[in-house]
Amino acid sequence: MAVPLFDTATPLEPLRERLRERAAAVLDSGRFVLGPEVEAFEAELADYLGVRQVVGVANGTDAITIALRAMGVGPGDDVVVPSFTFYASAEAVPAAGARPVFCDVDPQTFCVTADTVRAALTPATRAVITVDLFGNVAPAEEIEALGVAVLEDAAQAVGSSLQGRRAGALGRAGTLSFFPSKNLGGFGDGGAIATDDERLAETARELRFHGSRDKRTHERAGYNSRLDELQAALLRVLLPHLDTWCAGRRAAARHYVEAGLGDYVGLPRAVEGADPAWHLYVIRHPLAQRLEPVLNRVGIGARGYYRTPVHRQPAMRGLGEAGPLPVTDELAASNLAIPMSPVLSRAHAVEVVSAIRGAPA
Ligand SMILES: Cc1ncc(COP(=O)(O)O)c(C=O)c1O
Repeated sequence: MAVPLFDTATPLEPLRERLRERAAAVLDSGRFVLGPEVEAFEAELADYLGVRQVVGVANGTDAITIALRAMGVGPGDDVVVPSFTFYASAEAVPAAGARPVFCDVDPQTFCVTADTVRAALTPATRAVITVDLFGNVAPAEEIEALGVAVLEDAAQAVGSSLQGRRAGALGRAGTLSFFPSKNLGGFGDGGAIATDDERLAETARELRFHGSRDKRTHERAGYNSRLDELQAALLRVLLPHLDTWCAGRRAAARHYVEAGLGDYVGLPRAVEGADPAWHLYVIRHPLAQRLEPVLNRVGIGARGYYRTPVHRQPAMRGLGEAGPLPVTDELAASNLAIPMSPVLSRAHAVEVVSAIRGAPA
């Protein structure tokens, strides 16, 4: 039995008709950008996350840049960010005028810790981006206790929680992505900023619309970074199902454990107090790069993530600062994502584990 790395289509099957209806309604409405659907989605997502304000933007990368600027980050400032993450987490920092300073992560949770952040602080540090990698949730409060503002990059973790609080609602602001493969994936690009800080939200609203509040006076150089009505209308159909899908992701992780996966590979560990809705299920194995093609050949989706960590990307050579990051380098070589989706069954998990068990060492 083949088991794909993701299955984004099956969970959407029962919703296809409703999605078509809502798309047709937006086409008929003649309102396409920043209209009633975006407003309603922002309110519903704020309610889901338990925050006062959500600001819809064009994608999860812009969400980070705009949130950083709305937090007051700019030229001359350093922003601590992990290197073991999707490139966009760090790319958003120079876009806000600041310098990324890379930090290491915990080898079992893949997330930054208070210790790894502390080691990267500089006199110019203005903020830390805590990335909730693979759906795990970084310990934002412990990092805030270092006395530095936290921006939570929750692009991969909507539906996860830490000590009962939703991922995206931690730190001074949180950012989400609605890229189609995400836990709450739309039908194109989309993103959002979540915060309890009314002024930060107001500044973010201004920045997403060319630095203007009234569409006539432009207070600062901003962006054209808006969530569109079509995405918002479709995401409103999906949001009520997110928790069911996340329960499916958690069940899939349990199936792997019960099928004995831990006997063969290093399992991902939840951050203490976290309840991850695994976006990607990423194992560790010293021969991960040999295992990857072996699994793919027998129809089991497998992919190594971030094999070149961000601090080693050519673009970051002149832009960022990094000390030695041994865990990042080790994980870049030894990680391997195996199939994960809301509909991954016990039988799928058994199939994946038996392929891993049978792989030549
Ligand atoms: C951790 C992380 N941060 C930021 C982003 C950027 O989101 P987007 O693709 O919507 O710009 C992504 C996903 O693509 C991501 O995985």
